[in-house]
Amino acid sequence: MVDVRIAGKKYWIVQHPDALKYIFSEHPKAFTKHGITKILRYFFGEGLVTSNDEAWAQKRKLVQPSFHKKQLSKSLGIIQNETGAFIKKLNGFPPNSEVNVNQELLALNVAIVFRALFGTSLDHQIDEMLHILQELNQFATKWMRSPIKIPLNWPTASNRKFHQNCRQFDAIIYKVIRERREGKAPKSDDLLSTLMHYKNAESGEGMSDRQLRDEVTTIFMAGHDTTSQTLGWILYELALNPSISQKIRVELNKTQDPRPFTADTLQQFTYTNQVIKEGLRHYPAISAVMRKPKKEVELNDIRIGPSANFLINIYGMHHHPDYWGHPEKFDPERFTIEADKNRPSFVFFPFGGGPRYCIGSGFAMMTMQVVLLELVKNFDFDVPAGFQPEIEPNITLKAKGGIRLMIQKVNFKDAF
Ligand code: HEM
Repeated sequence: MVDVRIAGKKYWIVQHPDALKYIFSEHPKAFTKHGITKILRYFFGEGLVTSNDEAWAQKRKLVQPSFHKKQLSKSLGIIQNETGAFIKKLNGFPPNSEVNVNQELLALNVAIVFRALFGTSLDHQIDEMLHILQELNQFATKWMRSPIKIPLNWPTASNRKFHQNCRQFDAIIYKVIRERREGKAPKSDDLLSTLMHYKNAESGEGMSDRQLRDEVTTIFMAGHDTTSQTLGWILYELALNPSISQKIRVELNKTQDPRPFTADTLQQFTYTNQVIKEGLRHYPAISAVMRKPKKEVELNDIRIGPSANFLINIYGMHHHPDYWGHPEKFDPERFTIEADKNRPSFVFFPFGGGPRYCIGSGFAMMTMQVVLLELVKNFDFDVPAGFQPEIEPNITLKAKGGIRLMIQKVNFKDAF
């Protein structure tokens, strides 16, 4: 644990398994997420990610069933369907095309998460949505990096653009809510419908449109970018290490064509899952999370008062040389069943820990399994000459300007 001052605020940077165990599993109620950046709170509103204590517990209880195994199996159909269309799209690219894989994967994951949450496709609005998300992301990055934070309600040109993008985003979400309320959209048992059926136990009131918007927006935002960034980094590593793709193909070849995948058949791909875990270790999409103690706490024999902020360094822990040999090497062999068993807790925690553990981890794993298997089955990847991605820790861990790769069709049967 190290204490530093950033812009006049005191932060404890935490990257020790004992301290993490204290924060996440032994005393989670002693901490809140108040350190969360204002801009996220402004955009997410009062959804699951930004709320605390009793308000958070109620939301979590309400949302959790939408991520249970049975519901996830239904989402698997959507994931495969969208991935099929994605492979078709890539097949239409000229041979040996250079592709910004982050852009393509983002479009895919936006389509998947939107359909899974709302039971409807973005269809012709997908480009508009991608454009809005890109602009919001650029604005958030600039805002977070700027040492002087111009208040969001000042009428500067970039603030005005930000609010316009927020309004356009909301218009898409509110339209889906309105159509569902008016019975214009087909009935569907997705997250939106679970939330719409909620009635407060005391008042009997359901959720307002604004509450619904905050909940679904939160989950949509938390879900699409994290998964697509992780997949982008994994593809980059496959391009550098073609033998890893080949091992995935061997695993695919061993199983009689398992498609459509089920949650159980996906578990058979042990090596592919090791590759995904190594992607999550090496490039944790959420590289750090924040916590604030409610009152004085004692961690690693240090007394820390409530004015402190904790920056839990997931990236640092995932690259800590005390726990990982050659941490900068991409090596899926670190995640054999045996190695997983012997690893102390909170050395590998890409989805966080404790009660606020990522609610979408199962959904994300399933998406990454399906997309990776389909991509490797159909394509080879190469790094264009001179290209080296630069890591840009942002809201998610991104490659500056995106990862560019050459993609080439493979004939799966000839790959052996
Ligand atoms: C590779 C993919 C993903 C990664 C690495 C990831 C990572 C994380 C992490 C580290 C947290 C904990 C934050 C904290 O403790 O402050 C978190 C929370 C959360 N994640 Fe994910 N996530 C991923 C995918 C998803 C998906 C697909 C969804 C939904 C569709 C999702 C929804 C959420 C939500 C709603 C929370 C807040 C949970 C709460 O506070 O109760 N995530 N995620």
